[in-house]
Amino acid sequence: MASLISFIRERNKTTPTWLKVLVPVLALGGLGVVAILAVIVAFVITGWLGQPVPVLGFDQTFKQPIDFPHTVHAGTGQLTDASGQVRRNHVGEELEALGLDCTYCHRTVTTQANAGVPPVAQCAFCHQAIGQENSAPLTQLRTNAGIIGDGASPINWKRVHRMPDHVRFVHEPHIRYLTANPSAIGNAAEGVNEAEAVKPALTCSTCHGDVASMEQVEQVEPLKMGQCVDCHRDNGAPTDCAACHH
Ligand code: HEC
Ligand code: HEC
Ligand code: HEC
Ligand code: HEC
Ligand code: HEC
Repeated sequence: MASLISFIRERNKTTPTWLKVLVPVLALGGLGVVAILAVIVAFVITGWLGQPVPVLGFDQTFKQPIDFPHTVHAGTGQLTDASGQVRRNHVGEELEALGLDCTYCHRTVTTQANAGVPPVAQCAFCHQAIGQENSAPLTQLRTNAGIIGDGASPINWKRVHRMPDHVRFVHEPHIRYLTANPSAIGNAAEGVNEAEAVKPALTCSTCHGDVASMEQVEQVEPLKMGQCVDCHRDNGAPTDCAACHH
């Protein structure tokens, strides 16, 4: 810094004035660039190692077109609302969760790359009749299904989990491996009895947590490269870049 100042104050006029102005600008600009790079590097490293940092209010909480409760459909046992009151159906009966299997709705999870989300017709199969007539989410659902109003239209669900475009993820081999090797299943709500045949639905918690108890699905595992590679290494799955990157 001192040499920089003496350079600017230099008495003999060998250095042109434009250069004297430009040098400190470049020096300070250089500092700025270094500072910006440092922030970017820190961001990438934290992003790589853990959950994305919530920057400028960017987080995962967003509104789905219909508040779809996994608790009611995939959970088990008595249902309560947010205030702990027993939930009742439209005829006043206490509501038991339906305990539907994950694969009843996510039909392609055991055979394909994508798990798949059911078309509105599958929801309408039950909701044509089931549920209160004045329920706002079900009115939306029946409108999408074409039961009320004119014409059906798909529900534009927002994605909760999404890999970047350069990453390849396929469900099928994971479900196949985890059902055959239940000791690698993570976050299981109920203990996994390794002596019994494990159903595909029991494997989902490894990467998605306990969805059956979620009123709204959120991402609970970082699902960053480190997590994928660690598990691949521990379970003899490929760790070469091309296995997961296009
Ligand atoms: C009655 C149908 C139904 C059942 C049963 C069901 N789901 Fe879903 N699931 C949906 C719908 C509809 C969505 C999209 C709306 C949302 O994200 O809440 C969804 C979304 C998800 C998502 C988020 C997808 C994304 O965008 O990243 C995950 C993960 C998921 N379900 C896992 C499960 C698991 C695990 C089970 C079993 C415990 C299960 N689901 C049972 C209908 C169902
Ligand atoms: C097997 C039958 C069945 C299927 C299939 C089904 N549901 Fe349901 N759903 C129910 C039952 C039963 C309830 C509880 C009804 C009540 O509150 O009286 C419910 C409740 C709901 C609620 C809460 C309603 C409220 O008033 O709070 C929403 C929203 C909903 N379902 C959306 C969906 C969507 C979207 C799908 C398709 C992805 C779907 N359901 C598929 C049986 C089903
Ligand atoms: C090894 C980790 C892992 C397991 C196990 C897993 N998932 Fe996923 N799931 C992911 C990842 C990663 C994504 C995001 C994929 C993408 O963006 O390409 C995803 C996306 C989804 C989606 C939304 C996109 C789609 O594929 O339709 C649904 C729904 C879903 N998973 C359901 C399930 C269900 C149900 C199970 C259990 C039968 C399950 N997953 C098991 C990692 C996993
Ligand atoms: C719970 C441990 C586990 C986690 C977590 C996991 N994987 Fe895997 N993955 C496996 C295993 C084991 C296989 C090999 C299955 C088989 O074919 O026997 C595999 C296979 C794959 C394959 C197919 C490779 C091939 O060419 O055969 C891809 C792609 C893949 N994983 C991507 C991912 C990505 C991306 C993530 C992180 C989002 C991830 N995996 C997280 C265990 C895991
Ligand atoms: C088991 C799957 C898997 C393997 C193997 C794998 N990656 Fe990744 N990689 C991912 C996933 C998932 C992401 C996206 C999530 C993240 O940013 O961590 C990613 C992200 C990246 C990124 C972007 C990082 C960022 O912050 O944007 C780079 C660069 C990368 N990988 C390079 C590599 C190289 C090089 C190899 C081989 C030495 C490799 N990956 C092997 C799964 C994998």
